[in-house]
Amino acid sequence: MKVAVVGATGMVGEVMLKVLAERNFPITELLLVASERSVGKQLNYKGEAHTVIGLQTAVDAQPDIAIFSAGGDTSLDWAPKFAEAGTTVVDNSSAWRMDPTKKLVVPEINASELTAEDKIIANPNCSTIQLVMALNPLHKKYQMKRVVISTYQSVSGTGVKAVKQLENEMAGIQGEMAYPYPINRNALPHCDVFLENGYTKEEMKLAREPQKILDDRKFSISATAVRIPTSGGHSESVNVEFQNDFELSEVRKLLNETSGVTVQDNPDTNTYPMPIYAHDKDDVFVGRIRRDETQRNTLNMWIVSDNLRKGAATNAVQIAEYLVENKLV
Ligand SMILES: NC(=O)c1ccc[n+]([C@@H]2O[C@H](COP(=O)([O-])OP(=O)(O)OC[C@H]3O[C@@H](n4cnc5c(N)ncnc54)[C@H](OP(=O)(O)O)[C@@H]3O)[C@@H](O)[C@H]2O)c1
Repeated sequence: MKVAVVGATGMVGEVMLKVLAERNFPITELLLVASERSVGKQLNYKGEAHTVIGLQTAVDAQPDIAIFSAGGDTSLDWAPKFAEAGTTVVDNSSAWRMDPTKKLVVPEINASELTAEDKIIANPNCSTIQLVMALNPLHKKYQMKRVVISTYQSVSGTGVKAVKQLENEMAGIQGEMAYPYPINRNALPHCDVFLENGYTKEEMKLAREPQKILDDRKFSISATAVRIPTSGGHSESVNVEFQNDFELSEVRKLLNETSGVTVQDNPDTNTYPMPIYAHDKDDVFVGRIRRDETQRNTLNMWIVSDNLRKGAATNAVQIAEYLVENKLV
């Protein structure tokens, strides 16, 4: 496979290269792509130096697959150009996710929807992926009615500039700000931009993307997204009301049996998921599983995952693997 990684110099791009190498993705030629600022820079893949190229050079090389993590505007402008050149694009930005003509894919849930005609495939939002990984088996069994979620999101979810802001603040250095306020020792109820309805774009992604991935609009999701000064992964407090009642033991069993989900849940031993331990792992970790005692058929849980891995790079590479294994590219 001739593979282009667009946004190779970024936070997700760096992890993308790591995941491609770890999973031994069948690459015959690798094209590392970034903005004009980075053209000519050297990046390593499997111990070999590669020179960063620009977008037009990459389109002209007609890769089989291009994995984009370079922001929505770059995807809107360039994904169609790659697609026209015959490349299948897997896109990490929000540009195409809610486009009814594009598939929004978490491979464990809906990769079977993919066909060779899908030339631009959307990777869901990082917070959405870990949420639906845990909700999917429970929804199938008990049918969700309503989900209320509050997130505790890592600065790595914003990109290199935000990680730098946190590092600078921790070291007492005045530097460039990714956020309107300090993030160290703070919590910002503000992820992505505010919309007219008073919610942020991140909150509306969490409300809408799961319905598309699970192909069901009969449940609703209400979200509050908060940025906190962690860098290992995103955490989510999730309250789910189901149509049908459940046994906690069966909920744990269903989650345990789900590929890509690990249950860490034992109050006796202080066992619960935490971002510092989810860092650099592919699984979605679920704990604090308990019945909501104020409402029928309702569950509380705590979901943690590395936003740069299953929330971005790993999910995108799994999509690419599915395309290759099923001869769709
Ligand atoms: N961070 C996460 O947890 C996460 C999770 C899921 C999805 N995403 C999405 O992935 C994308 C990248 O996020 P990130 O956190 O990696 O951001 P980042 O660290 O800021 O990196 C951005 C990357 O995009 C490249 N880029 C920017 N403008 C470009 C242009 N005009 N042409 C070509 N390349 C351009 C940058 O290249 P230069 O170095 O040359 O500027 C860099 O490689 C975003 O769309 C984001 O929404 C991020």
